Amino acid sequence: MSANTIEHNRKRYDFAGVESVWLFGYGSLIHKVDFPFLEQRPASIRGWERRFWQGSHDHRGTPESPGRVVTLIENPDAVCKGMAFRVSPKVFEHLDVREKNGYLRLSTRLTFDDGSHAEGLVYIATEDNEAFLGHAPDADIARQIASASGPSGPNAEYLLRLAESLRALGADCPHTFAIESHLKYAVKNDTQGR
Ligand code: SIN
Repeated sequence: MSANTIEHNRKRYDFAGVESVWLFGYGSLIHKVDFPFLEQRPASIRGWERRFWQGSHDHRGTPESPGRVVTLIENPDAVCKGMAFRVSPKVFEHLDVREKNGYLRLSTRLTFDDGSHAEGLVYIATEDNEAFLGHAPDADIARQIASASGPSGPNAEYLLRLAESLRALGADCPHTFAIESHLKYAVKNDTQGR
């Protein structure tokens, strides 16, 4: 599948007559909220885990030196914590462009912290998209993130802000926190070595 998913996403859902939609955010949608929303609530989705396995050529890297950003990988035992936003369907005109590098809008069942549920949408970059990078050791992912930067800023900023937001949400994400530790260690050693 082409990395540009704008048209694909626009054809997927008919929002006619729909006033608002729950959107589940688990990556930059938690820490870079550049869209209007009607309500926000911490929430989680079951069956998916967060992984820095998606390449970013357009936001946090370049085609020559792609960064790494998060996507969700299926795991029946996993629960992914994030933030749910209730948005007007118009917001997807902006978000489909922002998330165009491989992310598809998929339906999901959200569980809010009080145990109640709602149906919603989530952007997931599936393994068959051209920008998908897949697994690598945590230290290698951290090194790649440390050296990448794109139009939205340094890739390290994406990682550090996400880790900070997850802590504020009380979300346990050993994968993100391990890469964050590697990045901080690499930066510290780099600075001391100069
Ligand atoms: C999300 O945040 O929900 C999608 C992935 C990203 O934009 O980082």
